[in-house]
Parts: sequence; structure tokens; C-alpha cells
Amino acid sequence: MAKVPANKLSFKTCPTAAIRAILMKPTTAPQATPRTYRVKSFGCQMNVYDGERMGELLGERGIVPAAEGEEADLVVLNTCHIREKAAEKVYSDIGRITKAGNKAGKQPLIAVAGCVAQAEGEEIMKRAPAVSMVVGPQAYHRLPAMLDKAVRGERSTDTDMPANAKFAELPQRRKSAPSAFLTIQEGCDKFCTYCVVPYTRGAEISRPFAELVEEAKRLVAAGAKEITLLGQNVSAWSGENHAGHNVGLAGLVAALARDPDLARIRYTTSHPADMDEDIIEAHGCIDKLMPYLHLPVQSGSDRVLKAMNRSHTAESYLRLLDRFRAARPDLALSGDFIVGFPGETEAEFEDTLKIVDEVGYAAAFSFKYSPRPGTPAATMDGQIAPEAMDERLQRLQAALRRDQWAFNEASVGKTCEVLVERHGKKPGQWLGKSPWLQSVWFEGDTAIGDLVQAGLIEAGPSSLGGRLV
Ligand code: 5AD
Ligand code: SF4
Repeated sequence: MAKVPANKLSFKTCPTAAIRAILMKPTTAPQATPRTYRVKSFGCQMNVYDGERMGELLGERGIVPAAEGEEADLVVLNTCHIREKAAEKVYSDIGRITKAGNKAGKQPLIAVAGCVAQAEGEEIMKRAPAVSMVVGPQAYHRLPAMLDKAVRGERSTDTDMPANAKFAELPQRRKSAPSAFLTIQEGCDKFCTYCVVPYTRGAEISRPFAELVEEAKRLVAAGAKEITLLGQNVSAWSGENHAGHNVGLAGLVAALARDPDLARIRYTTSHPADMDEDIIEAHGCIDKLMPYLHLPVQSGSDRVLKAMNRSHTAESYLRLLDRFRAARPDLALSGDFIVGFPGETEAEFEDTLKIVDEVGYAAAFSFKYSPRPGTPAATMDGQIAPEAMDERLQRLQAALRRDQWAFNEASVGKTCEVLVERHGKKPGQWLGKSPWLQSVWFEGDTAIGDLVQAGLIEAGPSSLGGRLV
């Protein structure tokens, strides 16, 4: 047999299965077990939750968060795939981390987690040799085992999607900020034509009722005063309660509200199609359920909504809000908007401005449409030019800013409860949240985690000044 130079060995030329196996096993140089980690979470609050939980897993191994300004031994990039250039951002981050490592004289281990990992895991492994772990959002409980391999110099990918498997294997919650996140549901079956979530996060699954009540109890014992229930579509959550009855989101909220040490409950994100009478009623009768509703509408045009596969119209959305407001008159509203969906005309965009005027949102998120590979909208006719999208986004955001400021101004003169979350920028200053999710800064004698009464005395575009009463 002709001799093949060692550097030219390939799968095809290898004489034995053993050598083939070695060549197939991607490796990097073995490393010392990391002492410190940093998790960089991008995108939605669910990624923030997942990032915290990955931190807890690493904590169990004695790996501690890197100090501010220190290069970590292990970096987890917890990525988001929902909008533009997500993958490119990951590669440039990897480049930056590698460069900083070279400068500091040590290369950190790099793990890519989250939705880009799920969608493009193989590609990342091929293109970025500095990455030793690629782990999807349903598989991150296996991060410690992957880390063991990485330390030995083996690279690994885990993008399995076993429903709910990770939660049983994550450590118990032992630490919490005053305001904590709790993922109750994952995945989405709605298949909005622009959205990649049903592909990256999979089908809707609800975490079991008892497991959630237990996790909430532990968060409260660890200092949480407020819990935000998270999910791609929390309004689709369902489960069997202690009494064996099948309940929806309202039933879960009611159960959590029974904990006397939990003061506030929020939830996000919901879909208008799944909001039932029970959750409307819950807003009317459960004081701990904060008067705030994030309910994405995406567009004010019925034609665009249909093309988005949203299953609601502008009118049905507005009537739904009427029912919520009837139950809880001081409800603050928030939403998500997309401008420049394929085929959106100027008149259709103006319908979005109209719905904004009609609702008067207290806060909102607005985005330029971004074609996501594999989604139906990405190949629709009538893709909108970037300049037109920019112009529409600016007009929409001006209207949303105007309404947010007006909402803040209308709050001046009220006294409300504020949950103190952190120190403000100036010495002696504190920053907290009003029931309507406004940031409130004030001075005085208090501590992080306190619930204080504050008079709202000054409104800014995105925050309010208060005084302790
Ligand atoms: N382009 C722009 N915005 C999007 N969103 C989801 N997918 C896209 C996309 N392809 C927005 C929606 C959603 C929010 C989480 O992100 O407004 O509600
Ligand atoms: Fe995406 Fe629509 Fe599901 Fe929201 S409801 S996650 S926008 S598919």
C-alpha cells in the first residue's frame, strides 16, 4: 500500500478502523479544569434564566464566576437566533475571546449554547476550532460532562431535545435576586411565518405544576420577592394541580400567590390566541399578579397578520385588551412589533401606527423584519428594502417613545410600591420597579429586596424619580 504522509491522512486513506476512529474524533489540546467562568446571555429572558442555571451547574463543580475585568477560564456564549446576524455575532465574539486569551497568555475553554447552537451546531464546530462545546437549550444539563471531555481535549456537540429532561438534573435553586425568573414552559406550536423559535426550541412543553411550585418556594427562600414566569408562550402552559385538576396559567399563578413571602408575580410572553377568561379574571382578583401585560400584536394590518399566521386581527386584539382592562383598569400594556414584513405597504404600516395610538403602550419592543433561514416568510415575495424598514422603524419607535413618556408622566403624583433591586448610579441612590414595571430611582434608608412605598415625583422617557413616603 502506498505510504500516505501523516499530514495527508484522511478518512478514505486510513488503513484501519482504529486510525479512522482517531481521525474522526475532533480534539483540542487538553486543558486544566477551569477555575472561573463567564456566561454571556443574549436575547430573551429565557436565555437569562438558562444562563443562570448553567452558572449553578458550574458552581456545583466549584467553578466560580470570573471577577469583573478578569479573563474567565471558561466562557459560555448563550446565543439568540431570533433576529439578524446572530451567527456572525457568535463568530466575532469567539474571535474576540481568543484574541483576549492570547493577550492574557491563556486560552479559555469556549462553549456555545442557546438557539444558534441548536440551529447551527455542526457549522460552528467546523468553522470555529476554538469552540470545544456546542450545547442546545434542552441539553445544557449535560454541560458538566461535556466540560470533562473538553478538559481532556475532546470537542463535543449535544443538541438533543428531550422534553423537560434537564430540569430534573439541574441543581436546586439556592440564590436569587429580589426579582427572579422561572421558566414554566418552553417551545412554541404557533409557527408564526417569520419566527425561528418553533424550530430552535421545539414543540410546546409545560413543566409540571409540582416542580414549579417547588422551584418557586426555593427562589422565595433564597430571597426572591417577585417571580416572573417565563416561556415562549406562557399562556399555553397547562398542568395538573395538587388536587389533580387540569389548570392553565391562571391556576398556576393562583397557587404561587398562596406563598405569603412572595409579593409579586408577572409572566411573559403570551399569545393573544391563548389568553382565556381565567387569566383575565386572575388579573382582576389576584393582587400579587402585577398590573402589567406584555401581549405582542406584531402588526396593525389584518392582511399582514394573516400572512404572519398570527390567528388574531387588529380588532380581536383590541377587544381582548378591553376585557383585560375591564378586569384590571390600571393595567399597563406592552407589546412586540415587526416592521417591514414581506409585502407590507405604507398603508399597512400606518395601520400599525394606528393600533399604537389606540392602545397607548407603557413599553414596547419593535424590530425590523429579519428573514430567518427555514421560515416561510424568508422566501415570500415582496421583501422590503432596508431603507424603508429603517424609516418605518424610526417612525414607530418615535410613537412608542412618546407613549412611554406619556405613561410615565401620568404616573407622577401617584404613590406606589417599589421593589428595591439595586444601587443607583449616584451614592445613596436606589433603583427599583413599580408595579407597572417602570424603573424608579430614589434616595433614602432602605436595602435591596425591600418593598417600599414611594411617591412618584418626576417622569423621564424611561424611568421615574421617587421619594420614600
Ligand atoms: N424578525 C424580526 N423580529 C422578529 N421577532 C421574532 N422573529 C422575528 C424576525 N424574524 C420578534 C417578534 C417576537 C419577538 C420576541 O421578536 O416581535 O414577538
Ligand atoms: Fe415565535 Fe409566534 Fe411562537 Fe412567538 S408565538 S415564539 S413569535 S412562533
